[in-house]
Amino acid sequence: MGKPVEHPTALILTWKEYNVMILANENFLKLQASYLFSDIAKRVSAFQKNHPDIAVIKLGIGDVTSPLPPACVEAFHTAIDEMASASTFRGYGPEQGYEFLREAIAAGDYAPRKVTIAPEEIFVSDGAKCDTGNFQELFAQDIRIAIPDPVYPVYVDTNVMAGRTGPFEDGAFTGLVYLPCTPENQYLPALPDEEVDLIYLCFPNNPTGAVADRACLQEWVDYAREHKALILFDAAYEAFIRDPDIPRTIYEIEGAREVAVEFRSFSKTAGFTGTRCAYTVVPKECQIYTSHGEPIDLHALWNRRHCTKFNGVSYPVQRAAEAIYSPGGQQQVKTLINAYMENAARIRTVVTEAGYTCVGGEHSPYIWVHTGTDSWSFFDRLLKEAGVVTTPGVGFGSCGEGHIRISAFNSRENVECAMDRIRPILG
Ligand code: MLT
Repeated sequence: MGKPVEHPTALILTWKEYNVMILANENFLKLQASYLFSDIAKRVSAFQKNHPDIAVIKLGIGDVTSPLPPACVEAFHTAIDEMASASTFRGYGPEQGYEFLREAIAAGDYAPRKVTIAPEEIFVSDGAKCDTGNFQELFAQDIRIAIPDPVYPVYVDTNVMAGRTGPFEDGAFTGLVYLPCTPENQYLPALPDEEVDLIYLCFPNNPTGAVADRACLQEWVDYAREHKALILFDAAYEAFIRDPDIPRTIYEIEGAREVAVEFRSFSKTAGFTGTRCAYTVVPKECQIYTSHGEPIDLHALWNRRHCTKFNGVSYPVQRAAEAIYSPGGQQQVKTLINAYMENAARIRTVVTEAGYTCVGGEHSPYIWVHTGTDSWSFFDRLLKEAGVVTTPGVGFGSCGEGHIRISAFNSRENVECAMDRIRPILG
């Protein structure tokens, strides 16, 4: 507390009248003390400090462990060399991404699924975390938001920071419409009973690994069209889908171009968690509205925001991402994903043989295990007794209680070792 400020005319004003303090965005105070994965990292490093002899195996945060595909490394090197020469050097690139990458994405990720996405509808960025977190800036304060529970914490936390929720009470933020995903509904959210304006969906799902079929996605798109709502569709894990009948993109669903924005990432697909490159698709048909009901072009709005706050992904990174779409890159990415999916199958087998039910791991790198017990205690037990890091389900929302998430992102050797260690604990 400072001292009262003396007015030049000797008139003494109270501290309150001279309230010149810098005020905080108190919405941040509603958040849990720390981000889930930072919290886990702290617990793990405390454990490691006390048990330096135990080699901890991390199957917690979905961070890839295999090196970049050789095609990407080669493209990266070539691009760095270009940056080293005056004749090929590049400064600022287009904020939305270089044409070469946007064209490769449209042709490589969408055309094979018979979906037309124009390169101009693609915004290249440094991560789907940032994009899913930032996109809410385009909406009014008082929109009604539907969020699955459990859910990737970024969707909730960024809306809390923006002041669109009340306080955190009984494991939930007031003001949000939670869509429970439980064993009873096969972890697939049902349409909300009340009207909502913004809907977050993620398939293959993080954290549950559940996938949505065409009929399920069609229901959501129909709902959004009927209610003039918008779907933010996180497809960061689409590359892990094995079944060709499961949609890889929301735009395989009729009408989705009018009501859905899609987020994609090279992080898990091609080992880019440390390299950073992702993209967001905003179709030209997508509209949101003013309070008077006038339509606003969402693509133009996101473009405005993106150009103001983002200066583009580096040229070498975009060249490395482009190489994913070369024939060699495609083959190498397939090999990477297959290896993680073999891990996922192994984890599923061990977990189910131990008598637990689980979802995920078939079209996703995450296995969502129903333990039926306190998830932080289960997490602690696996860490302390087996030296294996998982993610406690409740960290993703109150419906995640009684579950843990096991990630398949690690080497085969480490996954085998982790399974050998946890098998006796699972009983
Ligand atoms: C996760 O483990 O849920 C993800 O790795 C987090 C992320 O992609 O930001």
